Order: sequence, then C-alpha cells, then structure tokens
Amino acid sequence: MERLEALLRCPECGSEIILDELAVCAGGHRYPIVGGIPVFLDETMIASDPQYAAQRAYFDSEFRGYQRYVLENWRLAYLDRLRTADVLEDPASPLVDVGVGGSGYTVIEAARGGRPAIGCDLSLEGLLIAREFARLEGVAERTLWVCCSAEKLPLASASTGSALAIAVLEHVPDDQAALRELARVLQPGGRACVATKRRRSSRRQGQTGSSLSTCSSPGTRSRSSNSPARVSAIASGGGANGETGGAGTCAAGACSSALSSNVPRPRW
Ligand SMILES: C[S@@+](CC[C@H](N)C(=O)[O-])C[C@H]1O[C@@H](n2cnc3c(N)ncnc32)[C@H](O)[C@@H]1O
Ligand SMILES: [Zn+2]
Repeated sequence: MERLEALLRCPECGSEIILDELAVCAGGHRYPIVGGIPVFLDETMIASDPQYAAQRAYFDSEFRGYQRYVLENWRLAYLDRLRTADVLEDPASPLVDVGVGGSGYTVIEAARGGRPAIGCDLSLEGLLIAREFARLEGVAERTLWVCCSAEKLPLASASTGSALAIAVLEHVPDDQAALRELARVLQPGGRACVATKRRRSSRRQGQTGSSLSTCSSPGTRSRSSNSPARVSAIASGGGANGETGGAGTCAAGACSSALSSNVPRPRW
C-alpha cells in the first residue's frame, strides 16, 4: 500500500502527497480523505460542465445498490479479455483503472493475482463500496482507491504498467484530456486498454455493446497496428472527429490489436 501511495501526486502542482488526516502536498495543497479515500476533485472543473454532476448523481445512486461483490458474466468476459491482452496480472508494475466503478472488479482481481492496483473514479460512493469489497475479498493491502476526474489524474507520470478505462470515456466531457492522462501515467512499454460503447450517439446516450482496444506505449512493439494514426491524433490532442466510440481509441502512442467483440453489459 505504501508503494501505491507513493505514486500519488498533487493534481494542482505535481508534488508528492503525504496521506495523514488530510492528503497534503509539498506545495501546501490540501485534500480531504473520506473513509480512507483521498478526494482530489477540482470542484471548479466539476462546476464547469453539468455532465460531471449528472454523472456523479447517476453513478452514486447506481453504486449505492451494490450489496455484494459479484462477478457477472459480462465482468468475467472483460477479465478474460484483459488477461488475454496481458494487462491484468503483471506483478512487476501497478495497474490503474480510471472510472473503476463501484464493484472495483478489475482492481480487486488484479490484486488477487498479486498485482498492486489503483482504482480511480468520480463517484466517491462507488469507491467507498469498492474499497469495502476489496477488504472483504482480502486484497485491500494491494489496492488504493482515489476519487478524481479522468482528465486530471493525481498520479505520477510513468507510474503504471497498465492503464484501463472501461466504458468511461463516453461519459467524460473532455475525453482527449482523459486519453492524454492515460498516456502520461503509462510507463514506457506499458499498455492501455480502452473500451467504449460501440457508437457514440450522444455523450449521454449510446448503444450497448462495446469494443476493447489495447495499446502499447512507445518503446514496445504492438501486436498489430490497427489505427495508430487515429490513436496518435487523439493522444496529441488532434482528435479523430471528436469522437471516442469504437475500437482504436487509445492514447498510448502505438495501437495494437483491437480486441473487439460484443460483451453484453448493463445499459449505462
Ligand atoms: C459505465 S461506468 C463503468 C465502470 C467500470 N469501468 C466498469 O466497467 O464496470 C462509468 C464510470 O465512469 C465514472 N466516471 C464518469 N465520469 C468520470 C470522470 N470524468 N472521471 C472519472 N470517472 C468518471 C463513473 O462514476 C462510473 O464509475
Ligand atoms: Zn500541490
């Protein structure tokens, strides 16, 4: 756990963070800790787009209903695909899941496999539940839960070997910033896995079904190169028609095989 906490950085000034009663950076910025979870949300940014409040309200309410840790078939299918892509269980480096959700299943299963793992989310309610599930599943000491926005991760650059964003980017107002953050926190040779709904009809609605893309950060060879131009365009801020839906959206620099398939999942 100490090792994971050492990866925290102030989202305002980038300094190291000490966790005590508050999370405090060397530059004097202070953040609350609620139920063991440091909260790094920038409320000015949150207020800048009603989508944040809508997301928080929707998912807080959704996750409040989670009573037990359950791996439904669609979660098992994602876990299989993450294992196949070699991004779940490498104990040599931490995993980060951005928009981890209230079950925390990726982080919990990575930790069960011996890997230190960090779950980030906008929903504090979801994180509190996921953290409790991690405790009940006996893996809490290999996990860290952090309340933040995907566009401003309070993590050191090049701190993770695997960065996930599953069914998240379609909910984030500035998806390009979120992709740049995924790229920033990846170590050289690390891999990002991004899944979005298949088609983005609007930011607030979309079709069910999703595709999962894995990308290697510069320094590794990818298994194939489906859409590196599109990926690089997004990573560098150029965008790809401003859209994030479908395979091939990744920030890490070199896109590998798009592991597309239909994974039935709830209507979010
Ligand atoms: C559809 S759920 C997916 C949860 C999880 N990844 C999964 O596959 O079960 C979307 C998640 O993104 C989170 N989220 C939405 N906007 C976010 C943002 N700007 N930054 C971080 N997380 C966000 C929500 O709170 C929610 O947990
Ligand atoms: Zn600071």
